[in-house]
Amino acid sequence: MRLPDPALVVLVGASGSGKSTWAGSRYRSAEIVSSDALREVVGSGEHDLDASTDAFALLEQVVAARLGRGLTTVVDTLGTDVSRRRGWLAAARAAGLPAVAVVLDTPAGVCRSRNSARDRPVPARVLTSQLAAVASAVDLLEGEGWHVVRVAPDDVPDDAPAAAGEAAARATTSPAGRTGLRGVVLQLSHFPAEGDLLTWLRDMVAAAEQAGLAGIALMDHLVQIPQVGRAWDPIPEPWVTLGALAAPTTRLRLGTLVTPVTFRAPGVTAKAAATLSALTGGRAFVGVGAGWWEREHTAYGLGFPSARARLDALERGIETMKALWAPGTKPYAGRLVSLPETTCYPRPVGELPVVVGGGGDRTLRIAARLGDGCNVPSDDAGLAKVARYLELVEEAGRDRATVHATVLDLPLVGRDRDDAWSRVERHRGRVAAATFAARHHAGTPSEHADRLAGLVERGVTTAFVAPVGLAGPDDVLALAPLATAFG
Ligand code: UTP
Ligand code: MG
Repeated sequence: MRLPDPALVVLVGASGSGKSTWAGSRYRSAEIVSSDALREVVGSGEHDLDASTDAFALLEQVVAARLGRGLTTVVDTLGTDVSRRRGWLAAARAAGLPAVAVVLDTPAGVCRSRNSARDRPVPARVLTSQLAAVASAVDLLEGEGWHVVRVAPDDVPDDAPAAAGEAAARATTSPAGRTGLRGVVLQLSHFPAEGDLLTWLRDMVAAAEQAGLAGIALMDHLVQIPQVGRAWDPIPEPWVTLGALAAPTTRLRLGTLVTPVTFRAPGVTAKAAATLSALTGGRAFVGVGAGWWEREHTAYGLGFPSARARLDALERGIETMKALWAPGTKPYAGRLVSLPETTCYPRPVGELPVVVGGGGDRTLRIAARLGDGCNVPSDDAGLAKVARYLELVEEAGRDRATVHATVLDLPLVGRDRDDAWSRVERHRGRVAAATFAARHHAGTPSEHADRLAGLVERGVTTAFVAPVGLAGPDDVLALAPLATAFG
């Protein structure tokens, strides 16, 4: 069961129904606002009923403050007070958060026996009136506007470590051999400034193979881009680096995301990619784009023509690469490009897909007509472009089952909810935590796996993932559950 997140979650259940246990196994302690815990803060202990007024005043303040920041808030009280519920629901609406009422459907007898086993049981008649109050609250919830979720006793959390372990085991025992570009390809964009680069890369790709990922993509930039790091952070030349990765890998697809046509003459990129294909037994792919960052062009003495001219170059570039990879050495005379011969040896092995990065309409048309795939962001706007691309593929008289509809996804992946949140705090900079968490879908590996599986329904075949703060092989191994998202 997946609840919306972030959200207001209000627990409804009698004493001993398991509210605190349920919340504690799913949420970080700071996300849970509990009247019992606050009685202990402002009174002598969680059973200090004399402290109730103060405890609830604090509770209201905490709920309002958290919801105002768009943060997940789990209210752990009996949940039977109609006017409090109305206030929380209004606050959630005002913050634009979904409001969920979680009803603990624990049989009365179970609540009674758990209660009597406690050090300080609630008196039997109090429990009886709680059970009645819960029953009448349950009748009202839907009408009040809550999304109601019922929880049976002993529901196991979705993210129990066993589940993640199983997925990892499945991934590592998946059959050897090429996976194609379909699946989750890890994009490495941030590299360590110290230590041996080749050792680090070898460790990362070994972890990616073990995690069952489909490939490795490297950015093609001359200077580290501001979206990822500082200008003086290292960013190795990708085609040289991919050559180094050909040796220690046996299964991963290797390529760029994306090579700007403005950097190298397309024939030279065609040569490099064909060589990588030969070195890897057909595991290469080429991401290409029009280039966008003027600074790196001027810094390296390269021209940076108008957008229109760069898109013209992209179109000619793909045509040139495809011509050079075609069998034989015969002359080529195409729509935009003519070559007196097409002598490119070693030849690529098998499929050498060209994935075109960028979501402008002309770029999508070029991708649909000349390329083998598109690459757009994984957000809603990007997914609309996937749909548009697939339409254009069909308009071009091609079969959508033969192309790669790829997205770039920047997930924040935590081992568990606590780890995810501490990564949000570490990486958010000055962005509000809730905004940053939403932008990167902060969550556990199995939550990301579910989300990526949802992209498949939108026509996506491949997710290039560049996890926020990805630092070492352990972070890569943690992606194993994502590897199974594309089936
Ligand atoms: P909780 O302490 O979670 O109940 O569980 P609660 O609803 O929050 O109760 P109040 O309102 O604060 O009093 C009560 C007992 O039931 C056990 C817990 O270990 C605890 O001792 N329990 C709970 C289970 O054995 N299994 C469950 O699935 C949930
Ligand atoms: Mg409790």
